[in-house]
Amino acid sequence: MQTSSTLTRAETWRLLLLVGISLGVLANTFQGDGAPLIASISMALISFAVAFSMIRWLGPVFIKAGLKGKDMAKPRKPEIPETMGAVCAVVYLIALIVFIPFAFYKDIVAATSGGGNRDVVIEDQHIETGRYLHRFPHGKLASYLSGLLSLQSIVILGIGDDLLDIRWRHKVLIPAFAAVPMLIVYFVDFGVTHVVVPVPLQQYLGDFIDLGWLYYMYMAAVAIFCPNAINMLAGINGIEVAQSIVIAVLLLFNDAMYLAPITPYPHPATDSHLFSIYFLLPFIGVSAALLCHNWYPSKVFVGDTYCYFAGMVFAVVGILGHFSKTLLLLFVPQIFNFLYSTPQLFHVIPCPRHRLPKFNAATGLLDTSVTEWTVPPSPLIAMVLDLLEKFRLIRLVKNKEGQIVESTNLTILNLWLVWMGPMREDTLAWHMVGVQIACGLLGLFVRHRLALLVFNTDNRTFQSMA
Ligand code: UD1
Ligand code: MG
Repeated sequence: MQTSSTLTRAETWRLLLLVGISLGVLANTFQGDGAPLIASISMALISFAVAFSMIRWLGPVFIKAGLKGKDMAKPRKPEIPETMGAVCAVVYLIALIVFIPFAFYKDIVAATSGGGNRDVVIEDQHIETGRYLHRFPHGKLASYLSGLLSLQSIVILGIGDDLLDIRWRHKVLIPAFAAVPMLIVYFVDFGVTHVVVPVPLQQYLGDFIDLGWLYYMYMAAVAIFCPNAINMLAGINGIEVAQSIVIAVLLLFNDAMYLAPITPYPHPATDSHLFSIYFLLPFIGVSAALLCHNWYPSKVFVGDTYCYFAGMVFAVVGILGHFSKTLLLLFVPQIFNFLYSTPQLFHVIPCPRHRLPKFNAATGLLDTSVTEWTVPPSPLIAMVLDLLEKFRLIRLVKNKEGQIVESTNLTILNLWLVWMGPMREDTLAWHMVGVQIACGLLGLFVRHRLALLVFNTDNRTFQSMA
């Protein structure tokens, strides 16, 4: 019998077919030098199928365990399973673990006595030194494992948050701890804390400037920012996952530009971009599965676990792949949302528990949600709010005495509704996807083209660097 927590017959067959083909392809990558990229694509497809089915099956289990939330923007406010990001995250972590032999196949072959055959004759010195261990890139494996460890920590912390509803001021710093393993590996393995100085400033500062420990503070800040930023741009069906998929796909696009045949192999950055691709492909797989269930009208919520997990995937690839500044260019809507929110985050303006847009049952549309000023704002704050309203950055409601009694909540979703007027929940989600894509493409254009105005080279053009 078909219920809301089982797969339809058609879905079952399609998913089985997908898994079957992917497993076949995967098994065939253990040849020659291995084909890690093909293996990674297969893993992503298998992860999609597994996450898609598990999210469907586990819905009732999560509700029974109390992991549920009310969908505020629906007439009846139905309760649906929450924290489904945890399912994604677990499938993803297992996929990354299983992927290790595929990623390092070529190196494992080189380090063991040829093709992993133990029966070939081993010379004396090899018995003494074990095997050809020096041929194995332990540094790369350490980097991979540290990313995995950081992600595992953030998932544990995220699930804790979903279970216990940790307060904001406590949970903002959570990702800093999770970032420690990869910062250590960065320190030992890479250790570059220089940044290139823009050409116009080079006469004052030199070509490079060493930021030293400040650079580590900056990377920790990136690791804190990314997860929280995704969690803050949330509250309507599908938006958390959709923005993450857009960012991931754009990062993948950026990574692909460093691979052969687009860039002549071997480019110095090829390996770090391959590393990023291995982390992003299965992420896109599990996220797409989640989006199928979470897009309007949502059957499940993603929970803070997903937001933290997604943000941390980006922080890991950005930091260990050495392109954290490019990463931030893809986070422009999130950075705007954060800066715009700061008056409420720091309680200069009251901040209600939820700031998601308000559902109007009469029209079926979403409109801005508001903060009510029980005590009128001080003259200075009132002046700033009036100024913001003049620039159409906020909407105010005043009483007869001209005192502010309501102001719209400071999130990008509400701001969009201030500008465009009330709209359907899925339309708003599509608009946000459009904004994310437009800002992201612009970001990449700035990174690879406009940056040439202030920097000598784009690191993609390897020959001009040499
Ligand atoms: C963050 C935001 C908060 C926003 C919330 C929405 C800040 C400082 N906090 O808080 O303003 O209201 O995310 O996720 O910016 N929900 C829906 N529809 C959706 C998604 C979520 O109704 O499509 C509701 C559900 O009741 C769900 C709840 O939001 O249970 C999840 O909120 P939670 O993730 O716990 O909020 P925070 O991350 O703390
Ligand atoms: Mg949240």
